[in-house]
Amino acid sequence: MRLHGTQLVNEQGHLEIGGCDTVELAKQFGTPLYIMDEAHIRDICRQYHCSFVEGIENAEVIYASKAFSTLAMCRIIDEEGLGLDVVSGGELYTALQANFSAERIYFHGNNKSREELAMAIDAGVGRIVVDNFYEMSILNELAQGRNQQVNILLRVTPGIEAHTHEYIQTGQIESKFGFTLPDGTADRALNLALSYSNLVVKGIHAHIGSQIFELESFRHEVQIMINYMADILKRTGCLLQELNLGGGFGIYYASGDDPALIADYAKTVQSALEDACHDQKFPRPKIIVEPGRSIVGTAGTTLYTVGSIKEIPEIRKYVAVDGGMTDNPRPALYQARYEAVLANRANEATVESVSITGKCCESGDMLIWDIELPKAISGDLLAVSCTGAYNYSMSSNYNRLTRPGVVLVRDGHADVIVKRETHSDLLRNDILPERLKYLQMASR
Ligand code: LLP
Repeated sequence: MRLHGTQLVNEQGHLEIGGCDTVELAKQFGTPLYIMDEAHIRDICRQYHCSFVEGIENAEVIYASKAFSTLAMCRIIDEEGLGLDVVSGGELYTALQANFSAERIYFHGNNKSREELAMAIDAGVGRIVVDNFYEMSILNELAQGRNQQVNILLRVTPGIEAHTHEYIQTGQIESKFGFTLPDGTADRALNLALSYSNLVVKGIHAHIGSQIFELESFRHEVQIMINYMADILKRTGCLLQELNLGGGFGIYYASGDDPALIADYAKTVQSALEDACHDQKFPRPKIIVEPGRSIVGTAGTTLYTVGSIKEIPEIRKYVAVDGGMTDNPRPALYQARYEAVLANRANEATVESVSITGKCCESGDMLIWDIELPKAISGDLLAVSCTGAYNYSMSSNYNRLTRPGVVLVRDGHADVIVKRETHSDLLRNDILPERLKYLQMASR
């Protein structure tokens, strides 16, 4: 397994993260456990800040909190000086409860409810990224009712097919998101938005997909968007000054993944911007990028305890852990690949190929197919790396499994930032109607 951030193997041969021995973390907090490496998250935030905010004139980086949204995470992002992207009332509520200043929040989503839009206006979020005509009319009505002006970006679907899993592609024409550019829908949306007196169109937004390795996709995106902004200026005289390029920068999960450097990502955006603005004689707009996965992905590790082991001679050996698709649905959803190590014997040579399965009642509940490990025995600890993004945030209670806790580690300290769920948490919202409380004869 490749080590990330502050991960190292200590003298006892144990995996250590943020100066904390994972064997001790397992004893103290139990498993499964999500471990987040604070220094690593901050380091990546700083790389983004340095490459984009300091490296490009008039640029902003906003963290896509759907990747991992908790109070502590919002505080870290705030302290690192980045903005925040939220996609629901729940993510907005989390940010506001963390005292994140509303002006630095962007609100996305393809089906925001009236209540969510009202909540965003009342909180004073910086930008609402309008996705469709239905939303636009509700938003204008709400803004009118409050006699307020609301700053918006229009989400445009540019017609780019980024090379990534089809479930996480979003720039292609048939996407459910945004106003389609090539067929003229985006023009209609812009005209309508400009006619609404309570909406102020600040710019446009596009997000072409996620886990993208080819920087050329982003160059292409910049070209299309600047061409479009220049076209709008020529046709309508309206000068849009903000261009939000979305997120999507890919990360390393397992061998074969070869992500670019954040600095090179910024250079690509910068040079594409210079070229396109020069070609179109268009004044440089403010640039916004919205990384989610690349800020937290490699900073997360999930720690499990090995339980049952089933060997089917000549076929496969299953090593089962005490979590699974409930804490990491990504292998089942996107055929995502991961690396892992026995955290209590991290120096030992690998001797066999096994498959890591979870404890859910589903054959598809697999975490890793065919991984080389030392001979695992029940009670060993298995650490799966790069689980910081879209794991906790996509976790579920399927099979009524309780969600793991999350600890934030740094300089030898571990702070619980999300408590492990208990069985009684599972029943928190269950209600037993009076008529079901006592055994009654069924009336036939
Ligand atoms: N901005 C917008 C409008 C987005 O829709 C997304 C991700 C991002 C930014 C952040 O993208 P990132 O930098 O994280 O790639 N659950 C999937 C990923 C879904 C991404 C959805 N949108 C997964 O686990 O791979």
